[in-house]
Amino acid sequence: MTLTLPRWFDLHTHFRQGPAVASYIKAHLDMGCAGALAMPNTQPPVSRVSGAAQADGWSIESYSAELLAAGAQTFEQLIVPLYLTRQTTAAMIREGAASGLLRACKYYPPHGTTNSEHGMPMDDLIGGEVFQAMEECGTILCIHGEQHALTGPDYIDAQHNAETRFYTERMPRLLAAHPKLRIVCEHITTRSAAEFVTAAPAHVAATITPQHLLYTLGHLIQGLKYHLYCLPIVKFQDDRAALRAAVTTAGQAKFFAGTDSAPHTTKATACGCAAGCFTGGCAPQLYAMAFEEAGVDLSGSDGQNLFERFLCLNGPAFYGFPASMQRFQMEKAASQTSLLETPAGPITPLPLGMGIQLSWRVLG
Ligand code: DOR
Ligand code: ZN
Repeated sequence: MTLTLPRWFDLHTHFRQGPAVASYIKAHLDMGCAGALAMPNTQPPVSRVSGAAQADGWSIESYSAELLAAGAQTFEQLIVPLYLTRQTTAAMIREGAASGLLRACKYYPPHGTTNSEHGMPMDDLIGGEVFQAMEECGTILCIHGEQHALTGPDYIDAQHNAETRFYTERMPRLLAAHPKLRIVCEHITTRSAAEFVTAAPAHVAATITPQHLLYTLGHLIQGLKYHLYCLPIVKFQDDRAALRAAVTTAGQAKFFAGTDSAPHTTKATACGCAAGCFTGGCAPQLYAMAFEEAGVDLSGSDGQNLFERFLCLNGPAFYGFPASMQRFQMEKAASQTSLLETPAGPITPLPLGMGIQLSWRVLG
């Protein structure tokens, strides 16, 4: 069985900074990727719109130039969101949107994930000038939707977790205060978030990663498979079922691919584990496996249409750029992943870390 698809867009990924960037971008190009939204939680963060890189922050302009020089010029689209910090102003949003450099902003829960210490609390942003300016300019808000600063027992238990708290307590307030704000709920992991997005107006959408469609907390804990450790953490079977239902509903336009592929040269250490699954080189294969596990027949046109919507069409439509006219092919055939050697050190792709084979192969 072979699928011929438009080249797809990864609307949430991490390319980092420094000499390994070229390796990460190449891994994306090798898996039929036509473009990416490259996250701003670099070191230092992407905290300005224009101008030269400075010691305390890149600008969208300077970080984009870095990525383009490292291979991203082959992409049809490259979006770098602005990291929302205490230094972000409404004037930056207005000027950035007018210049065309600013297309999206990223909300990070302070200290909630990798390099998120520059983030400011959602409660401090709701009703403020920055979100008002974004609403006026049509700038998309990309949200890492987890309640920050919860202690262990509240962070995750059988009834609630940081994400369900965020989607039931913060998101309704955000939508009420900024009814026109265009929002992407990124890497959602729970039934609560999937239901929130489904019920929200059409200008609220979501990305879902391969790992959250494939795995549960049980997979992570059984054998402590730390390569599966990412944030938000994988959840329960009922959550995975809700995510699978969301992406496999005929005609759905709100859910699309965003891998959150996040390279870490060191994952587990003596005192903890870096959050992030690396799926460069293998994301469409993993998504196809997840669709099949969800009961989708990828040999038939209905199944193929569902998959194409999620992987290739909905994301560009939501972000407002054309789907790719270029094609890539995937073949149903077993394949292995291997370590990605980079100037920063080897990176373990998720399937290798999980000890699984892929059941699909990208032909290019
Ligand atoms: O697992 C994650 N890794 N989640 C994030 O939010 C950040 C990312 C990273 O940058 O490593
Ligand atoms: Zn991310």
